[in-house]
Amino acid sequence: MFKLTLFLCLLYYGTQTLGININAVPDANTEGIIQVELENTVSLVCGLDSSTPSDEELVWLRNGAVVSLKDGNKMGRSSVCINPVIYEDNGATFTCHLHSNTSVTASVTLNVTYHPELTGSEEVTVEMDSPLVLQCDMRANPPVSSMTWSLNGSMVDLLEGGFAVTNDGFTSTLQVSKAEKLLHEATYQCISESLLYGQSSKTFKVTVTDKTIKFPLMPLIAGVVVVGLTVILAFVSRWKKITKCCK
Ligand SMILES: *[C@@H]1O[C@H](CO)[C@@H](O)[C@H](O)[C@H]1NC(C)=O
Ligand SMILES: *[C@@H]1O[C@H](CO)[C@@H](O)[C@H](O)[C@H]1NC(C)=O
Ligand SMILES: *[C@@H]1O[C@H](CO)[C@@H](O)[C@H](O)[C@H]1NC(C)=O
Repeated sequence: MFKLTLFLCLLYYGTQTLGININAVPDANTEGIIQVELENTVSLVCGLDSSTPSDEELVWLRNGAVVSLKDGNKMGRSSVCINPVIYEDNGATFTCHLHSNTSVTASVTLNVTYHPELTGSEEVTVEMDSPLVLQCDMRANPPVSSMTWSLNGSMVDLLEGGFAVTNDGFTSTLQVSKAEKLLHEATYQCISESLLYGQSSKTFKVTVTDKTIKFPLMPLIAGVVVVGLTVILAFVSRWKKITKCCK
């Protein structure tokens, strides 16, 4: 009996206080949280129950900021549609209350789920002795349970290849300060593991090229200009002397 009452209390918490309620698609859970996948749609309908006069004006808020509503969408019943759901909607709270009495209110919170954006294959060319940097998105909700890097199909040997792996919570980076053909030319893969979405991965085909000798074009042009100017100046001053002595 106690369990049942508790369950009912939870059910009413969040989505409903006396007088007002929110109907959500997809459904909100007992804590008023709606789980929805990124880029999908959430539709919310705020309505009044029989204890409240049906000509009451309703107000919608998103994280405390008023949502602008069309005129026909305010009296007694009001709907908002979030389409598509974006990253920034994660954790956003939608509240509906009476215009005349803000304590008659109901709210729901979005839990936007998504996996890291890892697909396909990328060709990467790096010059010998230059840094090699490979990056993979790791933003996910729920957070990824692991992110691993492979080289030609086996776990990257950090020591042997002189690799460093870092992550800042948004991106996982595999890098080498000086690329070598023998050690680093290979097919790499970053693989994320999520409890909700399973594996996602992205492939990099890395080619290490010989060093190209960079011709220092800019200094050369500057040099030519300086030499040219000097010749002209020398000639001008010379000419002055010549003309002077001819006088
Ligand atoms: C607002 O609604 C609450 C809950 O129904 C009620 O207790 C309160 O008296 C109302 N306030 C006004 C100003 O009507
Ligand atoms: C959001 O949903 C995910 C997947 O079900 C879950 O792991 C996570 O705890 C939820 N987050 C919140 C804040 O409810
Ligand atoms: C990875 O495999 C390719 C193709 O078999 C090979 O040419 C390359 O040397 C390998 N790379 C490493 C670092 O073992």
